[in-house]
Amino acid sequence: MEFLDVVFNRKTTNGPFLPDKVSEEHQQLLMRVAAAAPSQFNSQPWRFVLIEDDETIQEIARISGASMTKVMSEGTFFERYKKYFRFSPAEMEEHRSGMLFDQLPALLRPFTKRVFTPSGQSLMNTLRVPRTLGEENRKLVAGSPLLVGVLLDRSEYRPDQLSGFYSVFSMGAAMENLWLTTVELGMGIQFVSFPMEVPGNWRRIEELLKVPDDLQLMAVYRLGYVPAKQRRPAIDWSSRERKKPSQYVFRGACDTPQSGWDEADGTAP
Ligand SMILES: Cc1cc2nc3c(=O)[nH]c(=O)nc-3n(C[C@H](O)[C@H](O)[C@H](O)COP(=O)(O)O)c2cc1C
Repeated sequence: MEFLDVVFNRKTTNGPFLPDKVSEEHQQLLMRVAAAAPSQFNSQPWRFVLIEDDETIQEIARISGASMTKVMSEGTFFERYKKYFRFSPAEMEEHRSGMLFDQLPALLRPFTKRVFTPSGQSLMNTLRVPRTLGEENRKLVAGSPLLVGVLLDRSEYRPDQLSGFYSVFSMGAAMENLWLTTVELGMGIQFVSFPMEVPGNWRRIEELLKVPDDLQLMAVYRLGYVPAKQRRPAIDWSSRERKKPSQYVFRGACDTPQSGWDEADGTAP
């Protein structure tokens, strides 16, 4: 693919993957592109653990699904992140950021505007929505042929020091290289973040992966080859929506938004 097509087609994959194993050649390429990223003083603070063992994947899937059910039924997830949810195309157009919450289970649709209120939460719990979503999440992770854990060297990742920022920045660059390459390989990728939301559950994953004391597990992703047809799930973690250039680019100084670029839109060239 042309480079810019790859960049503008990169996305988060919400749905299931094909059951095919990710070839060793592709796994190796994904690791090599990640390591080609820039890093402070060429420190290369990233480490990766490739997980194909079914038992480990099933256990991570169970932890992920249960974590999602827990944070959604307790309301902590919605409380923490509600500022990112949009309930209508008009609201999305106004912000041009966040995620469009338009795929609620049919039973909940009449109550869309109330899902973040205490009565909406109790209705969701009565209808067992957190359980359903958690189970969907478990299945998605369980059906992934490859998980990739991303780790940082703790001697670089020091959250209270500048090197902490530099190492996270470098890891982001490495992940973007990997993410872009999935497009070229016909693969999809998605963050498995719910275990981080529940104190103790991330530690369980670190134990499963035998993370040593000198490394910190920063993220887990699910990867696989994507089927031709994909359906949007109840919570769509992917969005093509982007701010207009005048909303995020300044000219000369931060008091002057860039003008004249919005017509071309912020996404495809
Ligand atoms: C730091 C970070 C955290 C993210 N967390 C999640 C997540 O927990 N679950 C998920 O499915 N996607 C997650 N994403 C993906 C975003 O939801 C996604 O990038 C965004 O909605 C734009 O969609 P796109 O990637 O398809 O362009 C995350 C992305 C980043 C960079």
